[in-house]
Amino acid sequence: MAILADKRILLIIGGGIAAYKGLELIRRLREAGAEVRCILTRAGAEFVTPLSLASLSGEKVFSDLFSLTDEAEMGHIQLSRAADLLVVAPATADLLARMAQGLASDLASTALLATDKPVLVAPAMNVRMWHHPASRRNRAQLAADGIHFVGPGEGPMACNEYGLGRMAEPAEILEAIAALLAPQARPLAGRRALVTSGPTHEPIDPVRYIANRSSGKQGHAIARALAALGADTLLVSGPTQEPDPPGVRLAKVETAVEMLAAATAALPVDIAVCAAAVADWRVSDCAQEKIKKRHGQLPSLALVENPDILAMLSRPGPARPRLVVGFAAETENIIANARDKLARKGCDWIIANDVSPAQGVFGGASNTVHLIAGAKVEDWPTASKDEVAARLAGHIAEALSGGA
Ligand SMILES: Cc1cc2nc3c(=O)[nH]c(=O)nc-3n(C[C@H](O)[C@H](O)[C@H](O)COP(=O)(O)O)c2cc1C
Repeated sequence: MAILADKRILLIIGGGIAAYKGLELIRRLREAGAEVRCILTRAGAEFVTPLSLASLSGEKVFSDLFSLTDEAEMGHIQLSRAADLLVVAPATADLLARMAQGLASDLASTALLATDKPVLVAPAMNVRMWHHPASRRNRAQLAADGIHFVGPGEGPMACNEYGLGRMAEPAEILEAIAALLAPQARPLAGRRALVTSGPTHEPIDPVRYIANRSSGKQGHAIARALAALGADTLLVSGPTQEPDPPGVRLAKVETAVEMLAAATAALPVDIAVCAAAVADWRVSDCAQEKIKKRHGQLPSLALVENPDILAMLSRPGPARPRLVVGFAAETENIIANARDKLARKGCDWIIANDVSPAQGVFGGASNTVHLIAGAKVEDWPTASKDEVAARLAGHIAEALSGGA
């Protein structure tokens, strides 16, 4: 973490149970050589004391927008600009809403509005708060405004519920800080990338649909990773619970036919990564009204094949992307089936993964994959989906620069 030496972090601590993890974050930042100044919200002070923050940071703690002494010492504008990076941990639902609205109603939100520096937020909240449409809207707005997110993770919560909303651990936040402060290598600058992600929903009638277990985690991570390397990235996503990745253009679709239309409209691109789990079939005649349940009578659904987006993008021709990468989700004979898919579809690489239920890949945070390119098979160690994405993006950058 040498990158953190002498970096100035303005850490904003909001009013959530996870505020205690902020103390550990300060300690780790200081160990890595960073200077840390803290803003503690009024609610944050209900969870941790200014004294703890001051002792750990070795700096005065700021809380009040209208403090004559603080303004005389260091105005709130200067406070927000004297840092290299602003970190909000925990970022409460309320503070994220204030940020998304551009409010400047207290010192934290004013500093966040007045800054000209990158901002990283580590949200922490109850799972229902996280999934609430208002929180989704705020996140989408913040992502569009260029705010960086780390977490939240999934797990048991202080409120006895389970789900997404746990603040990222200090080590993870530290890594995100280091990544943001590291000089960015942008080997894919000037390249256009298309990534498909998530499942598709194929309607049976107005209320029912055919779907699959894809979460979109891996595809979204790949879009983020390509964008981080500088690619102008369009993510065509089926219905997912994933937050919209920052710095990525997003086209939301429902069905395979819509996904194909959005993907082909994006051409020409240099890179296409088809990570979506596109439904193989759709109902040939989607009912206009809800199909009624009639005792003893089973409706019969006639299916037709969906368009093969990967094969279509791989077709030779002037619009073919230079590199087309497909995914093969297999439950048996992983490599053999993936090789077969590579040949059938005509793509350049296949990322094969074992999605048998025991692996917990669908919706899980990690993935064990194999990269198949022609006769070559690379077995990658089990890693987080973000790490798999970063590795794949690195390989893609290398291939396009002629290095592989
Ligand atoms: C015990 C307790 C725990 C709370 N935990 C959270 C939390 O984890 N996330 C959150 O968004 N709000 C939480 N809240 C609500 C916030 O404290 C409240 O919205 C507050 O206004 C946030 O202010 P701030 O954004 O200025 O820190 C909690 C409230 C209480 C009483």
